[in-house]
Amino acid sequence: MRYRRVKGATEKLEVLSRYITSDSISFKGRWNEAFGNDNPIYLEMGCGKGKFIIEQARRNPGNNYIGVEGQEPVLLRAAQNAKTADLSNLTFISEFLRHPDDYFDRDEISGIYLNFSDPWPKARHAKRRLTHTGFLSSYRKIVKDGGFIQFKTDNDDLFDFSVEEFISNKFTVYELSYNLHDSHIRAGEITTEYEDKFQQWGKKIKYIKVGINSVE
Ligand SMILES: C[S@@+](CC[C@H](N)C(=O)[O-])C[C@H]1O[C@@H](n2cnc3c(N)ncnc32)[C@H](O)[C@@H]1O
Repeated sequence: MRYRRVKGATEKLEVLSRYITSDSISFKGRWNEAFGNDNPIYLEMGCGKGKFIIEQARRNPGNNYIGVEGQEPVLLRAAQNAKTADLSNLTFISEFLRHPDDYFDRDEISGIYLNFSDPWPKARHAKRRLTHTGFLSSYRKIVKDGGFIQFKTDNDDLFDFSVEEFISNKFTVYELSYNLHDSHIRAGEITTEYEDKFQQWGKKIKYIKVGINSVE
């Protein structure tokens, strides 16, 4: 039997196997084995095409990074961009995570980045917002004491909602800005695809960083 060669398939498979962790749920509690070291692990939920997390990984070789993205074609672009950057401290999970603590063990993560998360404006979809109490309690389990959650958005309503969620869930506010790129906060140094676009449109970027400390 003759098989027709699919254009680009070999390269696509190579990218998939090197940068996308298959059966990612089975790595719960042993992500350090996946990286082959005990370096701290940082997570980006909804990483899109990966600009932000790839740059984080490039600048911080002593840390490990995991990008989570539910849209497969988008994630494939992220994996291809990671291959171009040739990084060994970065991998991706190709899933829409509903319960991050199904994938990560208690204290396994040092920090979480939420960048331009989908706003889900309808009240009946509020639970899907990545800063909803349901997600926050899952993050609290997996992020170690002294770790952080960092959130950026252009969306005023989502930002106000998120600040309230962080405060009512007793996170400690480390930094907050209603105009990140007009501040001296360093979180503006590494931007995302959406951030670049919104900045070009003249939109102000809202930002909050909160700490995870054990609740008394
Ligand atoms: C608006 S885009 C922002 C992308 C990127 N963070 C940026 O700032 O350029 C939000 C992304 O999050 C992804 N996403 C939303 N909820 C998710 C979840 N629960 N798990 C994984 N990915 C998610 C979406 O598929 C989408 O690609």
